[in-house]
Amino acid sequence: MSNKKKPLELAICMGSSCFSRGNKNNIKVIKAYIARHGVCDKVTLKGHLCEGLCKEGPNITLDGEVFHAIEASTLPALLDEHLKRQD
Ligand code: FES
Repeated sequence: MSNKKKPLELAICMGSSCFSRGNKNNIKVIKAYIARHGVCDKVTLKGHLCEGLCKEGPNITLDGEVFHAIEASTLPALLDEHLKRQD
């Protein structure tokens, strides 16, 4: 039996509002982060359509918790923090 933790579930909103207001670049930042840190087995990345929270976007969801107004500059620290919990 393995005691490996479940991967972090990262869902990024690819709806037109979130996408055009930052997630277009944020998805690149996330992919680069995963590659740089070699954590592809620790993160499940998926995109989803608009969830009606456009005003607070760009949004991403980490293990079911929604984070708003995501900026590329603060994204790596947010991922660091959440990935630490997976260790
Ligand atoms: S486009 Fe992301 S919540 Fe609407």
